[in-house]
Amino acid sequence: MTIARIPFEIIRDPAAMRARVEDFRRDGRVIAVVPTMGALHEGHLELLRNARKRADIVILTIFVNPTQFGPNEDLAKYPRDEAGDLEKARTCGLDLAFCPEASAMYPAGAQTFVEVRELQQPMCGASRPGHFAGVATIVAKLFHITKPHVAVFGEKDYQQLAVIRRMVRDLDFGIEIVSQPIIREADGLAMSSRNAYLTAEGRQTALGLSRGLAAAEALVKSGERDAATIVAAASAQLAGARIDYVELRDATELSPVTTLAGPAVLAIAAFVGATRLIDNRVLTS
Ligand code: PAJ
Repeated sequence: MTIARIPFEIIRDPAAMRARVEDFRRDGRVIAVVPTMGALHEGHLELLRNARKRADIVILTIFVNPTQFGPNEDLAKYPRDEAGDLEKARTCGLDLAFCPEASAMYPAGAQTFVEVRELQQPMCGASRPGHFAGVATIVAKLFHITKPHVAVFGEKDYQQLAVIRRMVRDLDFGIEIVSQPIIREADGLAMSSRNAYLTAEGRQTALGLSRGLAAAEALVKSGERDAATIVAAASAQLAGARIDYVELRDATELSPVTTLAGPAVLAIAAFVGATRLIDNRVLTS
């Protein structure tokens, strides 16, 4: 049986969105959601294509979530282009876009947060206090509003993916979390909305992140297992950038690894000028 496609629609009101998805669920349709903060690039579009393969209804959410930005971060200048985003997204067979106002997502007096206690602490959590509570909370809310069967997230934000998987398991969301491998520019730079902030020179410096990961992987392939040596090989490629962290951690628990034994993630966060970039690669012994 082929199911008739629904006409494309932008919804801004959470209650209206909930009502729409309840109808879809009643009709037995499979719903996939792709949460984003907009400024869509090819990485985001690949998440949508991935979702399209898995569901009858694909929902894109665009919301620049204030609670995941620190006081000195780029909330105000985060790139916003809703019309352009929707035009790109519609080429991937989007059905619905949920684009709420901040006041609809955080009504006055909002004071409830989701915290994934251990996984939110290290790595990006250490340099961005409160960031993952903001992420987990908004993703929980988006899940309640869009009631998906499947949600697609990128491996680019590795710790975010780990936090969301754990939240879904711990709080019984009953949603399948699908991960999409990192989409890169031809020269290896991981695609990111924040790459738009880079100068031409910064863009070259930024290549150090993917080069560092490749150097570390080559070392592991040649037999190296010592975490400090692997981290040093990656860090050596980051000349011109200010390293926030370069760490080898257990791929699931994100606990520190001293000797590579099972799957581990080598994760990098570094500032190029004022722009904070992240990248990672899973290494196996
Ligand atoms: P945003 O940075 O817009 O990213 C939305 C999704 O796209 C995330 O799942 C992210 O991992 C994925 N993504 C970004 N760049 C990618 C790339 N180069 N390859 C593959 N996937 C990529 O992540 C967020 O928004 C927010 O924290 C959000 C989850 C929406 C909560 O506000």
